[in-house]
Formats: sequence, C-alpha cells, structure tokens
Amino acid sequence: MSEDPDVQAQRLARESLARDDATGWFENLYAAASDGTAVVPWDRGFANPMLTEWFEASEPNGSGKTAVVIGAGTGWDAELVADHGYATTAFDISPTAVETAQRNHPDSKAQYVVANLLDTPAEWHRAFDLVVEIFTVQALPIKLQPTAVGKVGELVRPGGTLVVIASRRAEGQPDDEVEGPPWPLTRATVESFASAPDLRLIALDEVPVPTSPAATRWRAEFLRD
Ligand SMILES: C[S@@+](CC[C@H](N)C(=O)[O-])C[C@H]1O[C@@H](n2cnc3c(N)ncnc32)[C@H](O)[C@@H]1O
Repeated sequence: MSEDPDVQAQRLARESLARDDATGWFENLYAAASDGTAVVPWDRGFANPMLTEWFEASEPNGSGKTAVVIGAGTGWDAELVADHGYATTAFDISPTAVETAQRNHPDSKAQYVVANLLDTPAEWHRAFDLVVEIFTVQALPIKLQPTAVGKVGELVRPGGTLVVIASRRAEGQPDDEVEGPPWPLTRATVESFASAPDLRLIALDEVPVPTSPAATRWRAEFLRD
C-alpha cells in the first residue's frame, strides 16, 4: 500500500467517473480497504466532532424516536446517534462499507443497510425524527447535488430535525473549477436543503477545520413544521 490514501481514493474516483459511474468507486475503495490494500481517508475511527458538539449543545432525547444516518460509511456517526437512544437506520451505497460497519460495531443498536440516497425506499419518506447527513452530498458530482439535497430533505418527518455537515466551497469559485471529489458545498446549496416550504433552516454555523484553519465546514440544522 505505497500510494497516499487521498491520491488512491482520487484515482479510484476518476476511473469510476470516466465510466460515467458517479458512485461505483466507493465500493472499490471500501473493498480494497477491507483487503488491506487501501485506507479510507475519511474513516477516522470516531464520530465527527461537529456532530458530537451538536449533540452536546442540543441534548436531544432520542428515546422513542427514529433516526437515519446517510452515507454512514463504517458507522462511527451512527453509533453516536444510536447511543442517544434513537432507533437508528444507517445506510450506505457500498455493501462492503455496511459489512465493515457491522464488523466494527458487533453489539450495535443501529441497523446497517445498503441503500442509495438517490433511490431510497418509499417507506423512508418523511419517516425519521432525526436525519444526519455528513459529507455524502459533497461526495457526488455537482450535477447530482440538487437531486441528492432533495432526497435528504424527503426523509425528515413532520416535527423532525435535519443536521447537515459539509465542507465549504470557496466564495465565488465556479462549478467547473472544483476538482472533486469532494465537491464542497456553497452557502446556496446548504440553504437549498430548505427548498420545501415546511423545512426551515434554523441554524447555520461555519466552523474552522482544526487541522487546516484556513478551511471551514458548514453545520446546518433544519426543522420540518
Ligand atoms: C465522503 S464519505 C463520508 C462517510 C461518512 N458520512 C463520514 O462522514 O465519515 C461518503 C459516503 O457516502 C457513501 N455514498 C456515496 N454516494 C451514496 C449514495 N448515493 N447513497 C448512499 N451512500 C452513498 C459512500 O459510500 C461513503 O461512505
């Protein structure tokens, strides 16, 4: 495994995108990681600190409530959500990511399943009290992002909350100058999660990345009436 993990992920992504397959590279990467021939660059081994902070500040009680974690990868965020009492569904498009999450967390209370955000089961429509989206929409090419954003919002139940964490795109950077993946989100894209009239943006924070202070991330919270 001599290749830098970020470079290797970029290479797999470019090969997949050249075949006009926007998501196939995720399975290739997780499968290679499972064989020990790659490292998943975003697999940090603990929950996203910006999600942990949100739980600490909001103190939600998930008892008797449902949650869904989108693009859950190897499961660290889903475990945090499930530990707060939510009946948690965590899904990813990569079967190997789902297997790895199940292996990482053998006593998990979360249910890990394979599903595609762009084609979610009908029974998930407006079904979840808490929806957590971290870095999945930005992992999709910009032309797919409006559809993905709409699909995320559809999962939120009336009275439910959506938390979005994403990298921030430099102000004014045009689409064709973003060399993804990832394709970080503009403020307008983050605000567009509230495109349905009953899904309202109630908080939008811009948080410096500790390891790279010039960069910032969005943390947005939405509420469905
Ligand atoms: C950049 S990773 C982020 C993983 C995790 N959310 C995190 O923050 O560490 C994007 C994840 O989304 C998954 N993914 C990409 N496209 C997806 C889709 N259409 N439906 C479901 N999962 C998807 C990938 O397999 C990958 O696990």
